[in-house]
Amino acid sequence: MSQPDSMVHVIDHPLVQHKLTLMRQKSASTTSFRTLLNELAMLMAYEVTRDMPLQDIEIETPLEKMTGRVIDGKKLALASILRAGTGLLDGFLAVVPGARVGHIGLYRDPATLQAVEYYFKMPKDMPERDVVVVDPMLATGHSAIAAITRIKATQPRSIKFVCLVSCPEGVKALREAHPDVELFTAAIDRQLNDHGYILPGLGDAGDRIFGTQ
Ligand code: URA
Repeated sequence: MSQPDSMVHVIDHPLVQHKLTLMRQKSASTTSFRTLLNELAMLMAYEVTRDMPLQDIEIETPLEKMTGRVIDGKKLALASILRAGTGLLDGFLAVVPGARVGHIGLYRDPATLQAVEYYFKMPKDMPERDVVVVDPMLATGHSAIAAITRIKATQPRSIKFVCLVSCPEGVKALREAHPDVELFTAAIDRQLNDHGYILPGLGDAGDRIFGTQ
């Protein structure tokens, strides 16, 4: 991973970059877009969970007893920003199947580009959990900032934010609003356009996942 700042992780693994390029192409079908997103989510989950705490357990191999180390996936909560965040959940859950899942529903007011909340449901015991907020695109940053502000009110142990594609405007906004939140992304693209879309980006992630364009 290359690191423009120690809280911003650009996951530049060749497999991640390869799959992201395939997804960006407008010729990618809904099926391949979903498949690639799922694979990318697994690869990104691998990086995001790199520092998860381990605990010792006693086990028996066919040959002898030993002390192994395991993670407690149940202490992890994934928080999906609806609707596009849902596209990252399966890949994450394939890697950490015990994680609990919360959802936050936000839509972008087309006039102001501000995030408006319409749904919020998180697992219980949030103060015992590390939260990974997932949304494929970090554009203006409004949704990510609003989601994290709301999740912070539940007092989780820590919060990380994961997206596939970001842009300098979104990264700056998120870093300023939530300097304590680590950001993981596969790319920081050139810029936002006047409609709040990332250039070159990959288009509307939700539409491409669900085939609604
Ligand atoms: N949301 C998207 O789906 N795509 C963008 O480019 C920006 C926000």
